[in-house]
Amino acid sequence: MKPTSSSYAMLVALILLVTSCINNEKKTYDNAADIPVSREMIAELTSPPNVPTPVGLRKAKKLIVNMEILEKESTMTDGTTYNYWTFGGSVPGSFIRTRVGDEVEFTLSNHPDNKLPHNIDLHAVTGPGGGATSSFVAPGHEKKFNFKTLNPGLYVYHCATAPVGMHIANGMYGLILVEPAGGLPQVDKEYYIMQGDFYTKGENGEPGLQAFDMQKAVDEDADYVVFNGKVGALTGDNAITANVGETVRLYVGNGGPNLVSSFHVIGEIFDKVMVEGGSSINKHVQTTLVPAGGAAIVEFRVDVPGTFILVDHSIFRAFNKGALGMLKVEGEENKKIYSGVVQEGIYHPEGGTIQEMPDDDSKKVAPKENKTLAEKMESGKKIYMQTCFACHQAEGQGIPNAFPPLAKSDYLNADVNRAISIVLKGKTGEITVNGQKYNSVMTRQAISNDEIADVLTYVYNSWGNNKTNVTKSQVDQIKSGH
Ligand code: CU
Repeated sequence: MKPTSSSYAMLVALILLVTSCINNEKKTYDNAADIPVSREMIAELTSPPNVPTPVGLRKAKKLIVNMEILEKESTMTDGTTYNYWTFGGSVPGSFIRTRVGDEVEFTLSNHPDNKLPHNIDLHAVTGPGGGATSSFVAPGHEKKFNFKTLNPGLYVYHCATAPVGMHIANGMYGLILVEPAGGLPQVDKEYYIMQGDFYTKGENGEPGLQAFDMQKAVDEDADYVVFNGKVGALTGDNAITANVGETVRLYVGNGGPNLVSSFHVIGEIFDKVMVEGGSSINKHVQTTLVPAGGAAIVEFRVDVPGTFILVDHSIFRAFNKGALGMLKVEGEENKKIYSGVVQEGIYHPEGGTIQEMPDDDSKKVAPKENKTLAEKMESGKKIYMQTCFACHQAEGQGIPNAFPPLAKSDYLNADVNRAISIVLKGKTGEITVNGQKYNSVMTRQAISNDEIADVLTYVYNSWGNNKTNVTKSQVDQIKSGH
């Protein structure tokens, strides 16, 4: 049957309508300000290291963000607290996730128990002060302002109330992500990590409630440099996790107030870095610079299991000031990618072949029998300075948050057999020494039973320990499991 001209015209009109609808759906806007918003939604806010659900394919919306400012005392490190000023109760503040074209209705509430006025400057805002001038709010009040997200990227927000440096130094910063239309590519795991430097009246580790030190802040002489507001926020049980084969995306920010971060993950290479949180992608990066008041998005696939350490590679900050986190990866080993130790030998710099480690002392020159304590101390000190001091330090003081002390060590003095066993077999996992928790790795030491006796005797007879004289036969016994 031939269609009539009127039904033909209707068909054409229908096709045009459908096509224009599809075109409308896929329409790209030269100016993000022109993107229309459909409906309203309340923004999901998360505290670190978590991030809200990806925007995916959702259209631009009127996005309601309700942010509460809380001033509260919280832990900086074991035994030390600090009066943090926070967006949403955490440092860094709640993570905000938007997409380009969203019309954000932002309400900033200052809790009535707070002492000070605050405001917010969001680097994702195009407008005076990034919102600061419209959001200045006294305790017990709230302020509302609107902005449209025009540029995709990862942006810092922070308080900008005078003295600005002090408000930031007390923890008033966080991240707001603006995803492009259609969202960022899907990944398996996403985490929120933000570095900050802190300045306290007492030195690093001094116990009690520590006050902010303005002079140290001006001098940029940080006592703490940490991820997510405190020492250990991402270590031990707080470590972030992934499984072998997964792709991990880290939203990394730096609140400062002063220090620039050289962000690095030990044992990983960033497959992709969205440099400075913008749209330009750099590949195969070892360490990425995160400026104060800036951010970066890093992505990598985890290929082998293990604990990967996140650091600011200005490395004293990591091992002495707290800028250290952990990513624990579980799954199958892949010996092609990483073998682990395949052989351990004796190294003769003067030549000769590499020999296998002897299983026992029988192949070695017999150690001198019945050494005096002085002889054992002399031998033990030599071994200590070759083998142990890099981690436990010359005076047995250890390294805070990394390697436990041997000086006046309750853990050491409590159980000599345990100490022998650790030197023989190595030790991983959490231990508590003198009230401080440590979660590091001590490798099995490639020294003879006689040397173990000497070095432990040296340690036990130094730095205020309990003067145990460890004998080779004790070590032999532990080694043979009796
Ligand atoms: Cu403030």
